Amino acid sequence: MKVKRIAVIGAGVSGLGAIKSCLEEGLEPICFEKSSDIGGLWRYEETPESGHPGIYKSLICNTSKEMTAFSDYPIPDHYPNYMHNSKLMEYLRMYTRHFGLLKHIQFQTKVCSVRKRPDFSSSGQWDVVVEADGKKKTYIFDGVMVCSGYYNEKYMPLQDFEGIEKFQGRYLHSWEYKHPESFVGKRVVVIGIGNSGADVAGEISRVAEQVFLSTRRGSWIWHRVWDNGNPLDTALFTRYNQVLQKFCPTFMINRWAENKLNARFNHANYGLQAKHRYLSHQLTFGDDLPNYIITGKLLMKANVKEFTETSAIFEDGTEERIDVVIFATGYTFSFPFLEDEPAILDSQQSMFKFVFPPLLEKPTLAFIGILQPMGATIPTSEIQSRWVTRVFTGLKKLPSGSDMMADINKRKRITAKQFLESPRDARRVQFIDYMDEIGSELGVKPNLLSLFLWDTKLAKEIFWGPCTAYQYRLQGPGKWPGARAAILTQRERILKPLRTRVLKHPEASSSSLFWVKSACAVLFLFVPILVILQMMYH
Ligand SMILES: Cc1cc2nc3c(=O)[nH]c(=O)nc-3n(C[C@H](O)[C@H](O)[C@H](O)COP(=O)(O)OP(=O)(O)OC[C@H]3O[C@@H](n4cnc5c(N)ncnc54)[C@H](O)[C@@H]3O)c2cc1C
Ligand SMILES: *[C@@H]1O[C@H](CO)[C@@H](O)[C@H](O)[C@H]1NC(C)=O
Repeated sequence: MKVKRIAVIGAGVSGLGAIKSCLEEGLEPICFEKSSDIGGLWRYEETPESGHPGIYKSLICNTSKEMTAFSDYPIPDHYPNYMHNSKLMEYLRMYTRHFGLLKHIQFQTKVCSVRKRPDFSSSGQWDVVVEADGKKKTYIFDGVMVCSGYYNEKYMPLQDFEGIEKFQGRYLHSWEYKHPESFVGKRVVVIGIGNSGADVAGEISRVAEQVFLSTRRGSWIWHRVWDNGNPLDTALFTRYNQVLQKFCPTFMINRWAENKLNARFNHANYGLQAKHRYLSHQLTFGDDLPNYIITGKLLMKANVKEFTETSAIFEDGTEERIDVVIFATGYTFSFPFLEDEPAILDSQQSMFKFVFPPLLEKPTLAFIGILQPMGATIPTSEIQSRWVTRVFTGLKKLPSGSDMMADINKRKRITAKQFLESPRDARRVQFIDYMDEIGSELGVKPNLLSLFLWDTKLAKEIFWGPCTAYQYRLQGPGKWPGARAAILTQRERILKPLRTRVLKHPEASSSSLFWVKSACAVLFLFVPILVILQMMYH
C-alpha cells in the first residue's frame, strides 16, 4: 500500500498528537509550524506576537495532570497536579522526544493556502502552499489535519464601550498581559469574568491600589482543590458521576452544584451571582477570587456603561477613577489559509463531531482541537487525531453526507437547549461523553461489562475513579500495553507530589479502616437515593 502523506498545520498540543497518530498508523506526516518552537499556546513569550496565542507568566493549568496527559504517556509522578505552564511545556518536550516527533516538523514555515487539487473528487488530494524564509513552496498532500488553534485572535469589542476613545489611561487585551509589575499602585478595571479575567484581576489586585472586576452576567466560581483535597476534575469527571448525571434531571444537578459552590461563599453576597444556571454556561476557575474580594483588594462591578477621560461609569450609575482597562473578552479564531475554499469555511460551524466537514467529496480534511471541552484538551484532541488517521488510511468509513448532516443538526438542537447562546457554547462538550463518542467510532471505548467480569479491579477504578485517557488505550487500534498499569497507579501519581513531608503514621490502622470502608460502601449505595428523596420533599 502506498504511504500517504499528511500535512499537519501547527505544532501545539493538537498538532503534536496529530503527528504521533499519523506515525502510529503508518502515515507520513509533515507538520508546518509558523513559529520557531513547539507548544503553541503553552510556550510563554515575553512579547506577544500578533496571531500567536499568548499567556501570562504565572498561568497554571486548570486541568489536573492525570486528566491532561496524552493517553499513552502519563505525566511523571512527581509533577504537581496542577502544573505551571513551564512544566506543561517540559512534558510536551518529553513527549516530542520520546516519540521522535521533531524530525517531522518544519519550523518557521507558515501555511498560506490549502486548496483542492483539480482531480480532488477522485484523488482527495490537496495543494498546500507554505512560506518559509520569504519563499513559497507548494506540496501535494493526501490528507490535511488543521491544528492551528482556537485562541489566535484577541476579541476586543471596543464598539460596545462608549467613550473608550476619550479615555486617557492605558487599555489592553488580557492577551498582552504578562506580569503585574506595571500595575503597581494603579487603579485597574478588568472587563470579563472568564478564566483569564478572574486570574489576571486577582494577580494584579495584590499590587494595585484597587482592582474592579466588571461582569455582565456573573459566573459560578469553582476551585482546583476539591473535597478532600482532590483535584477537581479527578473528583468530578468519573463514570459514576456520568451515570448519576444521566439519571438526575438537570434542575437537580444545578441545585446540587449551586448549593455546593455557594457553601464555600455565597455568590450573591460576593457580587458574583450568575444570571444563568450552573450547567448552562462555562464556569470560572477562581481559587483565590473570594479571598481577594473579602480583603477588598478586588471589587465586583456591573458592566461598564461608558468611559470618560479618567474614569469608568458602570451600569448601576457608580463612577470610579481608573488608570488602566484590561479587556479579558476572549478570542476569536479563523482559518485564513482556507479562504480559497469558501464552502468549507461556511460549514465550519457545523462539522461532523467537530472534526470533518460533512460535504466534501473525500474525507481528507480534518479539524483537530476546534472545540471547547469541559475538561482537558490534550486527550480530546488526541482521540480526534486517532480517529482521523484511521479514516485517512481507509480503515474507518464515515457515514454518508446526509447522515452526517442529520447528526450535526441533532447536536445543534441539543446544544441550543442546554447552553446559552454564545459562539463558544456551540462547541462545548462534556468530557467523558465526547471521549466515549469518538472512542466508539474508533472502537476503543472501554467495555465495562466485560471488564467487570474479567478484571474487576480495573473495572472498579474505571467506573469510580477519574476518567483518564488511558482508558481508551486498553483495546482496539492503538492499544497500549501500559494502559492497565497506568490506570491502576493513577491515584499514586496524584498523591506523590503532595507527600513531600514524610509522616510516621500516614494511614489509620487497618481494622478501623475496614469499618470506615464498609460505612462508605453503604453510604455510596444510599446517597443517590437520599439525594433524590431530599429533593422531592424539600
Ligand atoms: C489562558 C488559557 C488557559 C488554558 N488552560 C488550559 C488547561 O489548563 N488545560 C487544557 O486542557 N486546556 C487549556 N486551555 C485550552 C488550550 O487551548 C489547549 O490546552 C491547547 O493549548 C490548544 O492547543 P492547540 O494545539 O489546539 O492550539 P495552539 O496551542 O493555539 O497551537 C496552534 C499552533 O498552530 C500554529 N499555526 C497557526 N496557524 C498556522 C499556519 N497558518 N501555519 C503554520 N502554523 C500555524 C501556531 O503557531 C501554534 O503553534 C487554555 C486556554 C487558554 C487560552
Ligand atoms: C481552562 O481555561 C481555558 C481558558 O480560559 C478554558 O477555555 C477552559 O474551558 C478551562 N477548562 C475548564 C475545565 O474549565
